[in-house]
Amino acid sequence: MTRPERYTVSARAYDLISGERPVYRRGRVAGIAGLGLTPGCSVLDLGCGTGLNHPLLVRAVGPSGSVVGLDRSPAMLAQARRRASREGWSQVRTVQADMADGPVPTADGSTGFDAVVATYALSLVPEWERAWANALQAVRPGGRIAVVDLALPTGRGRLLTSLARAACALGGSDPQAHPWTAVERDCTDVTASSWWGGHVQVRVGTRPA
Ligand SMILES: C[S@@+](CC[C@H](N)C(=O)[O-])C[C@H]1O[C@@H](n2cnc3c(N)ncnc32)[C@H](O)[C@@H]1O
Repeated sequence: MTRPERYTVSARAYDLISGERPVYRRGRVAGIAGLGLTPGCSVLDLGCGTGLNHPLLVRAVGPSGSVVGLDRSPAMLAQARRRASREGWSQVRTVQADMADGPVPTADGSTGFDAVVATYALSLVPEWERAWANALQAVRPGGRIAVVDLALPTGRGRLLTSLARAACALGGSDPQAHPWTAVERDCTDVTASSWWGGHVQVRVGTRPA
């Protein structure tokens, strides 16, 4: 099964089967908190899936802000739009695109988004360095960028290795990709956190001016 088909098939059940509450929510909460969003901010959510980040993003940017969710899977985006329409979030827009293809223009033609977030998404993209370069270009100089992604646990967390391996295989994620290292390499003011013996990794940094 190819990766787009994986999410086409599982889109409706994704929120239930993704391990969100017990395991993965912590990472997204930490990553989004690190963005320092305020009312009126614009934020790009790369590989947004069903929009699990959107409640947190919408709360932070308020009605005057904007949230653009980009994903290549129409089925996942349909779920994200359903969530936005159910909640009455007119500030959420979705774009169907491959994040490795090119930078995403802001809705108002400004120099870039105030922030970009990619949760559990870059490690699915074989050309994640290209997607990262696009993400850096999409955020304005001085804007914040968060990468939340998966690795195999280390230390005492190794007890969880088979579970972590299974979770990565199920989602199509490459646990050796380590895309957060690009935040450490290319950004300033980087903050780092991790959970579950390093299975969930969070890095947030500022795009240099
Ligand atoms: C594991 S899900 C994570 C979704 C969401 N970010 C979350 O935190 O729940 C990965 C998502 O990345 C999307 N994706 C994978 N490769 C992509 C690419 N090259 N361009 C855009 N989206 C992609 C998939 O369609 C899927 O919706």
